[in-house]
Amino acid sequence: MARIPVSVIEEIKERCLIEDVVSRYVSLKRAGSNLTASCPFHSERTPSFVVFPATQSFYCFGCGAGGDVISFLMRIENLEYPEAIRRLAETVGVSVPEDDGAPGERTVPRKRLFEMNTEAARFYRGMLFDERIGAEARRYLSGRGLSQAVIKRFGLGFAPDDFSMSRHMRSLGYTEDELVTGFLMKVSERTGKPYDLFRGRVMFPIIDTSGRVIAFGGRVMNGTEPKYLNSSDTPVFKKSRNLFALNYAKDNCSEEMILCEGYMDVISLHAAGFGNAVATLGTALTPEQARILAKYTKRVILTYDSDAAGQRADERAIGLLSEVGLDVRVLKLNGAKDPDEFIKKYGPDAFREALSGSSTTFRYKLGSIAGKHDISTEEGKIRALREVSEYLAGTGSEVEREIYIGQASDFFGVSRESIKNDVSLIIKKRRYAKKKTEAADIAREAAGFGDRVNRDKLTQLRTASCEESVLGMLIAYPEYIKEVVEGKTALTADDFGTEFGRRVFTAVTDVYRENGAFDVGAVGGDFTPDELSRIVKLAIGREKLGNGREVFDENVRALLAERERQRSKEDDAFSAIMRLREKNNGNT
Ligand code: UTP
Ligand code: MN
Repeated sequence: MARIPVSVIEEIKERCLIEDVVSRYVSLKRAGSNLTASCPFHSERTPSFVVFPATQSFYCFGCGAGGDVISFLMRIENLEYPEAIRRLAETVGVSVPEDDGAPGERTVPRKRLFEMNTEAARFYRGMLFDERIGAEARRYLSGRGLSQAVIKRFGLGFAPDDFSMSRHMRSLGYTEDELVTGFLMKVSERTGKPYDLFRGRVMFPIIDTSGRVIAFGGRVMNGTEPKYLNSSDTPVFKKSRNLFALNYAKDNCSEEMILCEGYMDVISLHAAGFGNAVATLGTALTPEQARILAKYTKRVILTYDSDAAGQRADERAIGLLSEVGLDVRVLKLNGAKDPDEFIKKYGPDAFREALSGSSTTFRYKLGSIAGKHDISTEEGKIRALREVSEYLAGTGSEVEREIYIGQASDFFGVSRESIKNDVSLIIKKRRYAKKKTEAADIAREAAGFGDRVNRDKLTQLRTASCEESVLGMLIAYPEYIKEVVEGKTALTADDFGTEFGRRVFTAVTDVYRENGAFDVGAVGGDFTPDELSRIVKLAIGREKLGNGREVFDENVRALLAERERQRSKEDDAFSAIMRLREKNNGNT
C-alpha cells in the first residue's frame, strides 16, 4: 500500500484530537498536562494508561500499548490501518487519496453501498405494502402483534420468493458485482451465478447510529431453516461492531439498556415503550459491542433465554460488560421464553416490574454457583463457598466485596468473618504469585529475553540500546531526521544492527524524504500494533532526557562506535578462524 501523505495525516490529527477520541472509550482524568485512565487494553485497578495531548500520543506503562490516534483506533476497534484512517477522515470530512488496491478487491465505494442498501430497503418495504405481493407478510407481522406504526418505524419489508430484488436493483444501475459485495446476492457454488439471497422473508434493515442502512436480517414465515438469515460482513457492515436498534436506543439509554437476543424482542420492547432495547446480530456479544454499550449507558440488563445456552451467554456477557465498567444485571422471566413472548402474555407493566427485580450480577452468580453444587451436603457447601471466595477475590473494590460478602454469608448461612478470611487469603496468594512473575518478567526483559518486538535485542543488547536512543530522538524531534536525510549527520540503515532498528530507521527516513516532514501516523501501515507501541515508547522515553544537538550527536557517535566494536569483534573471530584453518592446513 502506498503511504498516506504526512499532510493528510496531520490534517486528520488536527481535527481528531487523541484526547477526544480516547474519551469516547474510557473516562480520562487530568494529571498535570497529561490525562490518565484505566487501560482499555488490559485489566488493571490503578490507571497506568496515559494520553499525551502535547505529542498526540498515548502509552500504557502497564501493558506497553502505545501509539497515536490512528493506532489507538486500530487497537480498540480492531481495525486495519487503512480502515482506521478512513474512519477518522470520514468523521471530520478529510479526503484520503484512494488506494487503488488489487483489482476485484473492494472496488465498490462505501457510499455506493450505503445507497444500494437504502434502495434495497425501499424495495422490500414497497413489496410489503404491495396489496397483493405483501399480503401474507403483512398478515404475519400483524399476527405477531406489530402495528402499522411500528412496522414503519423499523422500516420492515418483505423479500418476495423470486428474483425481483436483483431485477429492480439492476434497473437502477447496480451491477451484480455490487450486489454481491453488499451481500444482497450470492454466487451459487453450483452454477457459479449470483442469486438473490433473501427470498420469501420478512426483512429487518439494520441501521447504524448515523442512520445508514448497513445490512439486513430476514425471517421466514413458515418453519423452514434457517429461521433467520443475516448479512455477512461487508465493507460497510461488521456484525461484531453493530447492534440492532442502537440507532433508536442511543437516545433513550443514558441510565440503562436492555440487551436481547432477537430482532423481535427488540421490536416488541420498543413498541411497548422500552426504547432502550438492543440486540446482537445473530451472534454472541463481542468485546467491541461491550465497549459500544459502555459509551452510551451505565447499566445493561441481560434478557437472554433461560435455557442452558442462554445461561452460558449470560456468563460470557457479564464478563465482557463488567470488564468495560458497566453495571450488569440479569433478568429472569418466568412463564415466557423471551421478552417478546413475555410482553404478549403479561403486558408492559409486568415487564417493568420484572425489570426492577432484575438481580445484580453477584446475586445471579451466587445462584448459578449454588446450582452447580449440592449445597445440602457439607462438602457441596464447602466447594460452593470456595468458588464464591475465588470469585470475590477477583472482584471490584473493597467496599463492593464487603457488600457481597454480606450477601454470601446470608445466602449460605455462614459467618461473614470466615468468608472474609478466605477471600483475603486468596488475594494475598494471588498478589504474591503476581509479584513473582512480574519480577521474573522484568529481569527477562532487561536481559533482552522475551522481546517479541525486537528479537535481535537478546544478542545485541548494547547496540539495541544505542539504537533506541537515536530512533527515539528522530521520532520525537523530526528536525534530526532532516539532518540525516540531508547528509549532515552521517547515518545509514547499515549502521543499525537489529532488524527492527533498521526497519524503523528506513521507514522514518523514507517518509521524511517523500514529505519533507514526519508524523508517526504515516508509518502505521508498515508496522504491527506492538511494533508501533514500541516506536512511540522510544519517543516518550526521550522526554525526560536531554535532547539538544550535542545529545543527538553523542548518541549517534555511541551507536557507530558500538557497531564498530561489534564488527571488529566479528573480524577478530573471523581472523582467528582463518588462522586456525591455516594451521590445520599446514598440518595436513
Ligand atoms: P431465536 O430463535 O430466539 O428467535 O433467535 P427469536 O428472536 O425469538 O425470533 P422469533 O421470535 O422466533 O421471530 C434469536 C436471534 O438469533 C438469531 C437472530 O438474530 C434471532 O433474532 N438467529 C436465530 C439467527 O441469526 N439465525 C437463526 O436461524 C435463528
Ligand atoms: Mn421470540
